[in-house]
Amino acid sequence: MSVMPSHPIRHLDEMLPWNDKLQMLECISAVEEAPDVMTFSFRTPDQNWFRYAPGQFVTLELPAASPEPVMRTYTLSSTPSRPYSIAVTVKAQQGSVGTRWMLDHLRPGMRIRAYGPAGDFSLASRPAEKYLFISAGSGITPMMSMTRWLHDCAPSTDTIFINCARRPDEIIFHDELRLLASRMEALKLAFIVGRSLPRHGWSGLHGRIDRARLELIAPDIHHRTVFCCGPEPFMRAMREALQAMGFDMARYHQESFQPTAETVGTPPSPASGPETAAQAATVRFTRSGVETACAADDTILLAARSAGLKIPSACEFGVCGTCKVLCSGGETVMNHNGGIRDDEIAEGYVLACCTRPVGPVEIDA
Ligand code: FES
Repeated sequence: MSVMPSHPIRHLDEMLPWNDKLQMLECISAVEEAPDVMTFSFRTPDQNWFRYAPGQFVTLELPAASPEPVMRTYTLSSTPSRPYSIAVTVKAQQGSVGTRWMLDHLRPGMRIRAYGPAGDFSLASRPAEKYLFISAGSGITPMMSMTRWLHDCAPSTDTIFINCARRPDEIIFHDELRLLASRMEALKLAFIVGRSLPRHGWSGLHGRIDRARLELIAPDIHHRTVFCCGPEPFMRAMREALQAMGFDMARYHQESFQPTAETVGTPPSPASGPETAAQAATVRFTRSGVETACAADDTILLAARSAGLKIPSACEFGVCGTCKVLCSGGETVMNHNGGIRDDEIAEGYVLACCTRPVGPVEIDA
């Protein structure tokens, strides 16, 4: 007797790619990885396939607070070489609301909204002969996505993978990475823990990563393209170490969903000049049929909120791309931080959180 699988396999050419207009994801697994760290995998209810670059992220709408859901951005830890599902690996920090809700409540069968995939932190857009991945804590997730992709599609790529954790049991993907390294001759791993007790049985590297350690682990570092992800103080220390050794920073790339010193306080300039003085800024939201006046330093996102409209948003400093909207008329000023591609800008899209209208504009929302 043959048994039909509950989800018959369809071929990719029979399926449409998922995108941020389809939005809905269905959780298919929830797996514990380390203390306060879980991996959640998703498919779509309509059987779409996932088209993205290794290292990109999605923004999830989580019903963690009432009445408004919270939006949280997470890098995908899965690889696009296995396009039937995607996964995020999340760590609940102290005081976390959204991620804590995921750990405590998100289980297989539940559906949530999502936006993306987006982001430019990927070896797909920065091909190189040799890579150095440096991560701390849950900053390991984009590196894992890229390493899984290399394993599937370019396994002989020369890659050094450094991960720093507070304790040995906090190293995420430890066992899988060792398995990958046993199958990929050119993948070299270096785990560094800040603290280890005798019961941890740790015989690896201790302490902090600094310039001397970097040069020891990657003697040919000047020939590598570096991807770095972790808390901002960690990435700052890496930037300073690399600059001190004369590394070509054009080959240094980092990912952060927190505003950095460079991005804080750089909103788009209020419109000024003779034309704008004559033309008051107004926003007409064409789908809702609402029109509102805009103060000189108001973004489109603020204008929407003051008009009682909801444009989805997460980072609110131009990185995650969640607030992307189509500007169908009028002039705007946008100061984004990488959350929108050039071709999207050419098509008329703007990020509502970091775009100010100049005179009357029309927004498809
Ligand atoms: S909310 Fe993240 S780019 Fe606007």
